[in-house]
Amino acid sequence: MSATLYIIGVGPGDPDLLTVKALTLLRQCPVIATPTASLKGHSTALAIVRQALSAKEMQEKEIVELHFPMQKIHRDQEPEAEVLQAWQEAVQKIVAKLRQGKSVAFPTLGDPAIYSTGYYLYMTITEIYPQAGVRFVPGISAMSSCSANTSAPLCLGDDMLAVIPATFSDKRLRQVLESFDTIVLMKVHKVMDTLIPLLHDLHLIENAILVERVGMTDERVMSDLTVFLGKEGQVQQVHYFSTIIVKKRDSFVRLRSKITHTFLAPRTA
Ligand SMILES: C[S@@+](CC[C@H](N)C(=O)[O-])C[C@H]1O[C@@H](n2cnc3c(N)ncnc32)[C@H](O)[C@@H]1O
Repeated sequence: MSATLYIIGVGPGDPDLLTVKALTLLRQCPVIATPTASLKGHSTALAIVRQALSAKEMQEKEIVELHFPMQKIHRDQEPEAEVLQAWQEAVQKIVAKLRQGKSVAFPTLGDPAIYSTGYYLYMTITEIYPQAGVRFVPGISAMSSCSANTSAPLCLGDDMLAVIPATFSDKRLRQVLESFDTIVLMKVHKVMDTLIPLLHDLHLIENAILVERVGMTDERVMSDLTVFLGKEGQVQQVHYFSTIIVKKRDSFVRLRSKITHTFLAPRTA
């Protein structure tokens, strides 16, 4: 195959949720470029790959670490210089491998189409090295996995679904919560202090559920978010890998009896 950058969705955590295509390409590519939020930091995407490939397969891989600072990106604003520089540096490292004729796999959590650095890499590489071959491989998103593990559909019939980062300003968040039937709130971990009272004000707290680290061995489903009420100002112990789903029409109250325990599908060998 001619040297190509494959931006591969690796699902939210359970290695059994890698697609066959993802696995095939991860095996074929001699180089794996891994995203980390800090220098020499941990890459969850790479950890998922390590569980899916054998130790021998991993030993043969060349691992290239890419550092992406955790900064908010606003689509209508130029990203901060630090962020732009990080994308350019990452692309230079990838292009160096492509020029050597080596295909590069870039595993990204969930699906690359949903809040993934993969598309920023793509935009940057097309500016710097437009002749690069780049292909996307879809993955199972965290919200699909949260839906499956709580037996709750995201949308049925004429339901309208919104997917948003909860880090929006309060006004936009309120508008979305008021307008849609199902709302998937991502990146909730730092805004629980304001988000939970807002859900309470809008009489939606009974319709909300939080899934933490879905598909990982310590997955947690919280079906009663009122436990967070009155604790504003305290550090709320939810992990960055937490998603809240609000369902107005098919409320979790009816479904709650099914989700008192966490569910993990048995691992295949
Ligand atoms: C940068 S976004 C990446 C989304 C990813 N591309 C996807 O398709 O799900 C990170 C957010 O996704 C959600 N997320 C990612 N992995 C998760 C997991 N294992 N369990 C629950 N939520 C998760 C959380 O809301 C987290 O803050």
